[in-house]
Parts: sequence; structure tokens; C-alpha cells
Amino acid sequence: MSSKAQQGTLKIELGRRYHFAASHRLHSPALSEEENCRIYGKCNNPFGHGHNYVVEVLVSGEIDPATGMIANLADLDGFVEREILDPFDHKSLNEDVAAFDAAVPTTENLCIEIFRRLQTFPKAKLERVRVQETSNNSFEYAGDHPQGFER
Ligand code: NI
Repeated sequence: MSSKAQQGTLKIELGRRYHFAASHRLHSPALSEEENCRIYGKCNNPFGHGHNYVVEVLVSGEIDPATGMIANLADLDGFVEREILDPFDHKSLNEDVAAFDAAVPTTENLCIEIFRRLQTFPKAKLERVRVQETSNNSFEYAGDHPQGFER
């Protein structure tokens, strides 16, 4: 057993990548029209624009000695499909996702919303979520409130 092993169990992280396409418009009701335009630039375009988002989900757990796995990938895939891909893919984040009635659908806020939705995965512990908006920028969230994240 390695030094990382605790009481004979091995904890390991599993990462899995998912893709969805969605549109958004960056516009904050807390800002004036002029400020929205200046701060968000072309992302404030009233008709929105789209991204091909890449979501990386990291979960951890103990290896089940019988299966040699932390969690069955089919279970994780089904959960992510239900919680994230079905409600977000080919949708308008502003119009179709209730969390963005109040919050601006920046990738920061999207990352937190995805973490919140995946936190209840029953088969392993959600460690963090990384959301890539373009090949040049991504955001990562590991949950600031381990006792239960409340929006
Ligand atoms: Ni954008």
C-alpha cells in the first residue's frame, strides 16, 4: 500500500469530459446600458452568440475491490446527461436555464451552476468542475461550501 492509502483503501480521481453547445448573452441588470456595452463588448449583442463548451468533471472515491473502479462511467454519463447535457445542449442559457434568470451566464457562473447540479452524484464525491468556453479560456470550481452549496 502506498502512503496515500488509508486503512487499506485507495482513493483515486476520475476525470471525464463532456461537450455541449449553447448560446448566451452577457448583460447585467445591475449595470446601465452603456456599462453593459462597455464591459461586455460584443458579448452584449442582444441576439446572443454561441459556444462549444467543454466540461471536465472530476470525482473521487475508493476503488471497489470487486470491480476495480471508483464509479461506473455509465452511471456518471447518465447523471451528467440528465443534469447538464439535456437541459443545456442547444439551449439559450439566458432563456432556458432558470439559474440565469438572476445571474449573468458568464462561464464563471456556468461553472458554479454545473458544480451545483453535479454535486449530488451518488456514486462518488464531486471534486471539481472545469468549463472551457473557448480554446483560450476556462474556469474551474471546487465548491466553496463543502457543507452544501446554496445559491
Ligand atoms: Ni460568450
